[in-house]
Order: sequence, then structure tokens, then C-alpha cells
Amino acid sequence: MRMEPAIRGGVHMAQRHDSAHKHVTGEAEYTDDIVEPVGTLHAYLGLSERAHAEIVAMDLEAVRAAPGVVDVFTAADIPHNDVSPVGKNDDPVLAAGKVEFLGQPVFAVIAETRDEARRATKLAKVEYRDLPHVTDVAEAIEAGYPFVTDPLKLERGDVAAAMAAAPRRLKGRMRVGGQDHFYLEGHIAFALPGEDDEVTVYSSTQHPSEVQHMVGHVLGVPSNAVTVIVRRMGGGFGGKESQPSLFAAIVALAAKKWGRAVKIRPDRDDDMTATGKRHDFLNEYEVGFDDEGRVLAVDASFAARCGFSADLSGAVTDRALFHADNAYYYPAVRLVSKPMKTNTVSNTAFRGFGGPQGLIIGERIMEEIAYALGKDPLEVRRANFYGGPGRDVTPYHQTVTDSIIDKVVDELVASSDYAARRRAVLDWNAKGGVIRKGIALSTVKFGISFTATWYNQAGALVHVYNDGSIHLNHGGTEMGQGLNTKVAQVVADVFQVDLDRVKITATTTAKVPNTSATAASSGSDLNGMAAQNAAEQIKDRLVDFAAEQHSVEKDQVVFEPNMIRIGNRRVSFDELIREAYLGRVHLSAAGFYKTPDIHWDRAAGKGRPFYYYAYGAAVSEVSVDTLTGEYVVDRVDVLHDVGRSLNPAVDKGQVEGAFIQGMGWLTTEELWWDDKGRLRTHAPSTYKIPLASDRPAIFNVKLADWSVNREATIRRSKAVGEPPFMLPISVLEALSMAVASVADYRECPRLDAPATPERVLAAITRLGGW
Ligand code: MTE
Ligand code: HPA
Ligand code: MOS
Repeated sequence: MRMEPAIRGGVHMAQRHDSAHKHVTGEAEYTDDIVEPVGTLHAYLGLSERAHAEIVAMDLEAVRAAPGVVDVFTAADIPHNDVSPVGKNDDPVLAAGKVEFLGQPVFAVIAETRDEARRATKLAKVEYRDLPHVTDVAEAIEAGYPFVTDPLKLERGDVAAAMAAAPRRLKGRMRVGGQDHFYLEGHIAFALPGEDDEVTVYSSTQHPSEVQHMVGHVLGVPSNAVTVIVRRMGGGFGGKESQPSLFAAIVALAAKKWGRAVKIRPDRDDDMTATGKRHDFLNEYEVGFDDEGRVLAVDASFAARCGFSADLSGAVTDRALFHADNAYYYPAVRLVSKPMKTNTVSNTAFRGFGGPQGLIIGERIMEEIAYALGKDPLEVRRANFYGGPGRDVTPYHQTVTDSIIDKVVDELVASSDYAARRRAVLDWNAKGGVIRKGIALSTVKFGISFTATWYNQAGALVHVYNDGSIHLNHGGTEMGQGLNTKVAQVVADVFQVDLDRVKITATTTAKVPNTSATAASSGSDLNGMAAQNAAEQIKDRLVDFAAEQHSVEKDQVVFEPNMIRIGNRRVSFDELIREAYLGRVHLSAAGFYKTPDIHWDRAAGKGRPFYYYAYGAAVSEVSVDTLTGEYVVDRVDVLHDVGRSLNPAVDKGQVEGAFIQGMGWLTTEELWWDDKGRLRTHAPSTYKIPLASDRPAIFNVKLADWSVNREATIRRSKAVGEPPFMLPISVLEALSMAVASVADYRECPRLDAPATPERVLAAITRLGGW
């Protein structure tokens, strides 16, 4: 055991986000804040007015003649017109010959000012020949629309036989809505031309290496000509995993052609219309179960509105299947995905990456069984948790060896006083008033690792300068989640120096190559390990040097808080570094990490795609006005597992933020396309994210501080970014309970998501309330 840590900001300590003060004061530099060189040009996109049409003619003369316009690009001006992140060649930068959704970029205007570029786009005359279009997933299935990518099937056991033999069966379907990312900072890219084939692009991206490769591909230059830099994003939430490439490609192309800096920043409406969102799903399930409420068989399909191209929809719909079991064991199971093509914007990653849309079916199945048997849904959940041998294999044949869901739920049930409060809710509703209450406990088990196994690698670069200050760079990107703070804590801890000695620097493809997206919640798992590896290399060299220099054994060189003990001497970190520099010790190292022991055979539907699972549970209580469908969330209690937290303050913030964002997804955030295929909810006036006033009146969030990752992750922590996003399913099911009370809980109200007040009122009416 180490002594009380005396360094400031070490690992496992609550430490504020390194940029928190700057976020609040406005001093944090985002891409749009970078000082523009003289002569910077501005680009703006002209968008399709049709959902599906051939482009018959395009008259851009008035655009070219507009004040300030320098250039207009169409598909013909793009050397390699594709930014598909999965190599499907189905994501044109600018539409060529036809458009496949309303809002698709068709041309780009380059002008002296942003306002001039934006105004000029309105002067285009595009002649379309309409083709039949489909925007909705059910319509797409009916119309025989194709899949955008290969579907997945997961199967274990004899489903047909188990279903037939089950004493009870039920079938249901659930529509699960999509979601706009609503990052505070929208998409933006800023390119500076260099000499020969070189270009530097500042991009608000979670995936600088992909932007680098895509810009290189579009321009027809090798990756070594392109440098992508991002200091921070004003939120990404998955919306900046694949979507930034298009913007980066446009400005890089214009910058090279004109030899001037070029920036692009769409308005919020255009950002919402032209860039991908969370997939909405249409899920259908049949479940066989016994009189105790134990599941015997599950047969389910998951159809997603993917939009016009594949983008990341394959991996997103795969992850939906990977989470359809949630924390529950299905003895026989068959799950299939249907990644449907539609004439809408190509949907993309969003916190949970399809997991939430699958996991919600696991939770809905528990509710369905409880209503069918007249039981407390918590009892049904408990009866179905993954257990020991015989009840521990997932639909994808990975064995669950680390389940702590029972302990998490037991502790939360006690701390939230669930049993007494449920009795009180039932009593309240029995009085038959207008205001009805509901309470529900839901759980989360979320698999950590990219299911594309090769993505589970990371690099870092650490320099120690000869004044003893430390420069940290790694392949991850900061989007508000506190990744940089956590990785810096790891490095400070290795050297046993105060955190403020470690300078966090912008992510750039020139320092760490071939990085993965900062996604799948794995940023700190991967980059924390890579940075630790780099720091330890330097530390090892310092130990060797000091031992030799002072003629002591290596174990006599000990890094103590802000001091190094060498035999019976003690020197400051600065002194040691100075000596080491003069002794010509290499004070820089590149670190690397790859997640061990994971593998996945997609064709067989078998493997160990996840290194480990993160667990959590929440109890939510709501009040519903049964005359209007309006509701409030009265109280939420959360217990969430982050293993041994690297930074409990940042992790708690992640849990709180994820809960509120997930609550928005399930309650007020609704995307709506009209029959022309136009997204009508493209601004805060029509798209309602949670307000501060929508916060639960009582919001008790706790980390399971006893949890330790059984795998050797960075300091035994667990990933935190996405798993808590699914905890507010408890809010949806609490709303269901309040609704069900108008019909004495005889049936599951099957609330679709989002459960807007309109949908809640419709369900009350359907059940015969009032
Ligand atoms: N938190 C903030 N503040 N902003 C974000 O954009 N993105 C989420 C989550 N938390 C996000 C966030 C998503 S989608 C992921 S995958 C993780 O953070 C990514 O960061 P990590 O892997 O470092 O946790
Ligand atoms: N999660 C998030 N992003 C991804 C994944 C994943 O599993 N796979 C590819 N990109
Ligand atoms: Mo997060 S959806 O994996 O960027």
C-alpha cells in the first residue's frame, strides 16, 4: 500500500476538469476562436430541396455573380468524391447526379465573408426530377428498400422449441426515437494551405486520423501531407465521429486551390438538417416465459432508420443486438438487425451507439412480463439477472464473468427506499386522483470495447523538458468528458508530480498517428494506458540513470511525491531531470496500448467482443397529469459502476450529464419529418432538449465506490461516457406505471419513445382513462 498520496491531482482524486474555468469564462479556445490569417475565405453549403431526385440541371450563374463570391464547387470539382467512413463509396461530399435526402449538400460556395457565402447559396436554381422516396423505417420495409449494410444475426439455443414449450408467451413492438446531438459547438473546419501538397486542418472531430485520411483521399494526396488538429470540441456525443470529414474536405480543397485559409461553419438549422443523428428503431419481440416471470426464449428484430448511406450503421445496429439482453439471461434467443435504407440524412454514432435502442427492449420485456403476471417489475428483473454457470452466456456467446448487478441493485433498492416508495405510489394512485405517480427501477450492463476489434489501440507521446515540465499528447480527443484531465492525472501519478506540471496539448495527427475515434467510452481506457506506458518508459530510464550515477541499486531509486529518493539522498524532480539531461538521457517517449483478450467473429456471431462490462441502476419517480399528459420527474436515485474511478468528480458529472441527455431522448426530444422528407424539427424552437428546470427535483447520484475492475484496465477503472445514458429508461417505465394506473395496471401501456406529453395522453386515452 502506498502512503496517502501527497501530489496534487493524482489518480483516484476528485479533480476539476482542466478547462472548467475557461469553459465558464469563455477563454477556452474552440476552432472558431482561432485567429484568422488575413485573407481567410469562408465556405457555405447549398443543400438539396428534395428527398430523392435526379438533378436535371443546375444553374449557378447568379451564385457565382453574387457579391464576394470567389468560387463555387460541385461534385465535378471534387477529385475523389467520397467520405464514407467504412469504404462503401456511398457518401459523396457533394451530390453527383442525384440527391438522396432533403438537406444533402449539393454545392459549396467560397466567398470573402461567411455572410456572403451563405446568402449566395440561396440564388441557385436546381432543376430536379423527383423519384419515389421513403423516410420512415416501417415504410422502407414495406417498400422493399435495401439494407445499407449487411444485417447481423445472433442466435443461441433452439428458439422455436423453447418458445413453443413456454407456458406463457407475448409479442410486442416498440418504436424508439432518434435524437439530435445538439452539441453546443456545431460542425466546423478551418484549413490552412501549406507548401507542395500539404494542408493543415483544424476540425471539430472525435476522429482526427479519419479526417486526415479522408482529406487525403478527397484531395488525392497521401496522409503524410495532411495534418489534423483539435484542441477541444464543444461536445461531440458521437456526432463528430464520422461526420466532420465532409466539412474538412471542402475547406481543404478550397484552401489548396486558392492558397488562402478557408473556414466553414453551418448554421444550427443546416447542421441539424445535413448531419446524421441517433438512429430511430422499430423493434419487434416475442418472449416466452414461465409463471415466475423467468424468460425462456426471446425472438426479436431491430429495424433502424439508417438514412441514405451506410456510415456507421452496421456497427450501430450490431451494438443494438449486443445490448438487447441487457443484464438478463435469455436461455434461447434469436436477434436480427435490419439496417434500413431511407431517404433521410445518414444516421450515425450517438452516445451508446445503438446500444440504448437495443437495451430498451430488454427492459421493456421485463415490464411486459411483470404486467402480464401482476408482479413488481423489480422482482421480474431480479429473477432474470445473469448468474453463475448455466445462466451466464450472452446471445453472442461471451460468458459474463464480472456481473455485479445484484449488488448494485440491492444497494440502490435500500438507499432509494424503493419498496416503501412503491407502496406509497400504489396507495396514492388508488385514491383515483388526476395526478398519478409512477416509480421504476431499471438496470444497465454495457459492453466496453469497440466491436471492430482493431480500433482498440492507442498511442501517446510524452516529453519531459529539461526544466522539469512535462508535455502530454495522446490520440484521444477532448469533447467535455474530461479525458485530458484523467490522462494527465495518470502521467502525474507515474512521475509523482503535481498535476499542474503536466501540460495538456491539442490532439494532432502529427504527434500520434493512426488513432481511433474517441468513442465507445474507451478514451481513458485506451489513451490512459498508452500515456502510462510512455511515462513509464521515461521513468525507467531515469531510474537506470540515477542508480548508475549514484551507485545504488535500482530499487533504491524511489519516486516520492514531488521528490526522488536515491539511496539516502533526496532530490527534487527538477534536479533529477537536469542531471539526466546533462547525462544525455532520452526524455521523450511514445507509448502504445492495445486491449488484450478480445476477438469477434461476426459471420459466426460468436466471440468475446467486450473486455468487460460496466453496470448501473436507477430508480425514478414521476408525477403525471392525466388530463394533459404533462409530467415531472420528482426524484431519481442512481448507483453507477465506474470501477475504481480515475476521477470521481469528472465521473459523477458524466453520470449526471448522461442521465439528463438520456432523459431528453426518452421524453421531449422528437425528430419529425414531413411527407416531403423535410426535417421539421431543426432548431431549438421545435426540438426540445431538457432545460435546467427539467432536472429531477431530487437527484441522488452515487458511484459504486467498492467496485474494482477485475480486468487490468488503467488503475482498475471502468469506462463511464456512455453506460449511464441508459439509466433514464427508468423514467420511461415510471411514466408507464403512472399511465397504467388508470386501468388498474391490467396491461403494459407500451409507451413508445419519446414519451412526449402527447404520447402519454394518447396512452391514457387508449387505456380508457377519463
Ligand atoms: N461528455 C461530454 N461532456 N461531451 C461529449 O461529447 N460524449 C460521450 C461521452 N461523454 C461526450 C461526453 C460519448 S458519445 C462518448 S463515446 C464518450 O464521452 C467519449 O469519451 P471517453 O471515451 O473519453 O469517455
Ligand atoms: N462504438 C463507438 N464507435 C464505434 C464503434 C463502437 O462500437 N465501432 C466503430 N465506431
Ligand atoms: Mo460515442 S457514440 O461512442 O462517440
